[in-house]
Amino acid sequence: MKDIRINKQRLWDTLMEMGEIGGTEKGGSCRLALTDLDKQGRDLFVRWCEEAGCTITVDKMGNIFARRAGEDNSLPPVVMGSHLDTQPTGGKFDGVYGVLAGLEVIRTLNDNDIKTRAPVEASVWTNEEGSRFPPAMVSSGVFAGEFDLEYGLSRADLDGKTMGEELKRIGYAGDADVGGRSFKAFFEAHIEQGPILEDEDKKIGVVTDAQGQRWYELTLTGQESHAGPTPMPIRRDALVGAARIIDMVNRIGMDNQPNACATVGLLQVFPNSRNVIPGEVFFTVDIRHPNDKILEQMDQALREGAERIAEDARLEMEFKQIWHSPPVPFNKDCVDSVRRATEELGFSHRDMVSGAGHDACYISRVAPTSMIFVPCEDGISHNEAERADPDDLAAGCDVLFRAVVQHAND
Ligand code: GLV
Ligand code: MN
Ligand code: MN
Ligand code: MN
Repeated sequence: MKDIRINKQRLWDTLMEMGEIGGTEKGGSCRLALTDLDKQGRDLFVRWCEEAGCTITVDKMGNIFARRAGEDNSLPPVVMGSHLDTQPTGGKFDGVYGVLAGLEVIRTLNDNDIKTRAPVEASVWTNEEGSRFPPAMVSSGVFAGEFDLEYGLSRADLDGKTMGEELKRIGYAGDADVGGRSFKAFFEAHIEQGPILEDEDKKIGVVTDAQGQRWYELTLTGQESHAGPTPMPIRRDALVGAARIIDMVNRIGMDNQPNACATVGLLQVFPNSRNVIPGEVFFTVDIRHPNDKILEQMDQALREGAERIAEDARLEMEFKQIWHSPPVPFNKDCVDSVRRATEELGFSHRDMVSGAGHDACYISRVAPTSMIFVPCEDGISHNEAERADPDDLAAGCDVLFRAVVQHAND
C-alpha cells in the first residue's frame, strides 16, 4: 500500500479522451446535461468501468454507479465521484476529474490485485451544473432526499424539455431507486475553481466546508414600444430596470466582503430588437456566502432593492427564489483522513472552504463525506481555458486512493 501510486499518464489520457467529446475550438468541452454528447460521455465511462470489471447500476435520475466488489459485499460501499456534464463553455476538468479519478483508483486497485473489505464505487451524478436544468446538484439532491423524484424529473430547460424526457431519450432513465442505500463514505475530488492553492503554492486543498447559495429568477415587465417616437420620460423599459438590479446585485456582493459572491449570469431580453424598447426581461441571480446569516441578509437586500427599483421604473416584477443550498460542514473523519493521506504523501496543503457547489454537498446529508481540491491554472473555471497540471491531478488522485482504501478497510 505504502508505495502504490496511481498512473498519472493514464489518468491524464483518460481525461483528454473524455474532453474530446463535445471538445471546443478553444480547448474546453461543451457537454450540457442529457444531450447526445452527455450520452456519449456516459457511454464511454460505462465502457471503461466495465473493462475494469465493474458492475453498473443506473438509477431513475440517471446517476451511474460502477461497483468494484469487495471481500464483504454486504457492507456499504465507499463511493467516489462527481459529474460529467459541463457549462456551455466549460473546461475539461470541472466534474470530469472527480469521476475519472474514481475510475483511476479502481484501475490502480486492479493493477495491484488489492481486495478491499467493502466494495468501492465510482459514480456520475446527473446535471450537477444546473446550467441546462436548474437548480444545480439536482440528482444528488434527489438521492439525499432534498428533492423528491417527481421534482427532479420535471426540471425543464429553456425550451420546456424535462429531465425525465431527456433521460429516456438518451437511454439513461435507469431502474434503480434513487437513494435509500447507505455509503460507508463519499469522496469527491475536484479542481479548486479559484486561485488560492496556486497563489499559495499548495498542492492539495483539504475541504472542510462548502459555502451556501441561493438562486433566483426575475421577470420584469414594462411596455414594448418604438425606440424613436416614444419620449424618454414615459418609457417603461424593462432592460433599464434589469440593468439597475444587476448593478445592485454586484454591490450586494461587494458590500459583504470578504467571501460574498453575487452574480447575474443569464439574461433574456424580449423582443431583443435594436429599435424596440424592451418590454420584458428574464434574468437569474446567484448569491453565495459561507455564513447562512449573512446569506440571509444578502437575500433581504436583494428582495428590498429589486422591489424598489421595479417600482421606481414603473415595472411589474415576478421574483422567485428557486433554490437554497445552505452551507455544508463536511464530515470530520473524512476530512481528517484526506489530511492524513496528504501528509503521508508529503504534499503541501491547506484547509479550505469550497466556493462552488458540488454533489458532495447533498451527499454529505446521508453519508460521511469530504472533498479533495487540486489547483487550477490562474484559478479559472467555467471557462474553456480551464487547465490543471497533470502532477497536481495525480497528487489529488493519490490522496483519493489512500482515503478510499482506508475507509473501505476500516
Ligand atoms: C456549479 O458548478 C456551481 O458551483 O455553481
Ligand atoms: Mn463541478
Ligand atoms: Mn461547474
Ligand atoms: Mn459545481
